[in-house]
Amino acid sequence: MEAEVPRPSLRPAFHFAAAAGWLNDPNGLAFFKGRWHLFFQHNPGGLTWGNMHWGHATSPDLFSWKEGPIALAPDRRGTVFSGCALVLAPGDGPLAPAEGERLLLCYTAAGSTSLASLGRRFSQCCAISDDGLRFAKYARNPVIRPIRATNRDPKIVRHGPTGTWIMALWLRGSEFALLRSTDLLSWEIAQRLEMPGSIECPDFFPLAVDGDPAREKWVFMAADGRYLVGAFDGLRFEAEAGPFVSDSGPNFYAPQTFAFAAAGGPGGGRRVQLAWMKGGSYPGELFSQQMTVPVELGLVGTPEGPRLARLPVAELRGLVTKTEVSGGLALGPVEATIASGEALDLDLRLRVEARFRGRAGLCADAGLEVGFDFRGLVLLWSPARRELTLAGRTVRLAAGTTLALRALLDRSSLEVFAMDGLVSLSSCFVPRADRGISAYARGAAGSEECPVFLERVESRSLRTVMPGRGDIG
Ligand code: FRU
Repeated sequence: MEAEVPRPSLRPAFHFAAAAGWLNDPNGLAFFKGRWHLFFQHNPGGLTWGNMHWGHATSPDLFSWKEGPIALAPDRRGTVFSGCALVLAPGDGPLAPAEGERLLLCYTAAGSTSLASLGRRFSQCCAISDDGLRFAKYARNPVIRPIRATNRDPKIVRHGPTGTWIMALWLRGSEFALLRSTDLLSWEIAQRLEMPGSIECPDFFPLAVDGDPAREKWVFMAADGRYLVGAFDGLRFEAEAGPFVSDSGPNFYAPQTFAFAAAGGPGGGRRVQLAWMKGGSYPGELFSQQMTVPVELGLVGTPEGPRLARLPVAELRGLVTKTEVSGGLALGPVEATIASGEALDLDLRLRVEARFRGRAGLCADAGLEVGFDFRGLVLLWSPARRELTLAGRTVRLAAGTTLALRALLDRSSLEVFAMDGLVSLSSCFVPRADRGISAYARGAAGSEECPVFLERVESRSLRTVMPGRGDIG
């Protein structure tokens, strides 16, 4: 009789997944009283979507999350769909605390998605917490009555100069709305805006171009990560460019950025984003679905105008247990092992020899293709076409003969960053147990005309920080 080979665990080492059950959108992301809070769309009773609750986890460092009790459960208004958080201080209107900080959650009560809520429509509701552990739904919910049957996913941001609160809300189809309020309780529609091809989970936030506060722009993003860049005066958002794609991978959805206290504080001053790695299957596991790593967003001035860059937050360095550097490898058609380990943060630098002559040149004619095999998931670089391809998704690069890649590899995901974060590809997959991490160059490679060098590999091993269960606070 053959011995059964145990299947390696697919549970992420450094990405958030629920201890058990289904997860989708990140919700209510906030830095509150010295901790990062992550709420999430959660079915605690099954491995498929439905019966939506808000699960809850906290972390001191954005990676080692501890999952606590359910924060928001369905009631007679409906199951609890996506929404956001705000950190309130004294003076922030009628819901504000008398002293200290208060966490305000805003969510969609999805009427008619449960037996108890049959006949009701989707409305926007609030809950508050002073300790970040227990949440009390606002007694006078809903705060916003139905506008459209499917309206949902409130995301609120403060507009500093006018001292108002702005809520981005998805209405239906490609129609979104911006609503204004001075007290977080009474809201009026300031604007409706269209983003053809995109639906659900808007995010809306300011960012300084190249970090220069004098060059602030506003970004409006939808659930697929496509975004508009424009100007916002507290009343009207004028889109100036877009939509652009922020992540080109096959599994990126419902990104949301963290809220901070207006005063900033130790976690503040950054725009930190988390998204759901939508899709993927995890056979044999107690969880389904996982989040991306948290990234810091930047708005980078490019010749075509400002574009979003996504790069893993600096806190990831805190997980490094070992760093190995190698390099000077000429790639050929035979796969060469370049790193090993289950949870890695890799920097890869590649160069095609200067004899490479572009589209009309020999390398291009011979279809030079550089491949990285990440335990069965292959990332392809075509220098001649200036393209990166992962899991059927292709993205254009600016340069052809050199490439600097950052790759985060976990037990069931790969996130690739190029062009200093202007390009990113998020994907989840089931690795092949018989494959390691290797690189090769095929097509014209090996010929005299266009050798490909893997100039440098820095491989940082990361420790396992998930799952974490226990007391949160
Ligand atoms: C996006 C979404 C949201 C909704 C939630 C329900 O993935 O459909 O629009 O609020 O998921 O789980």
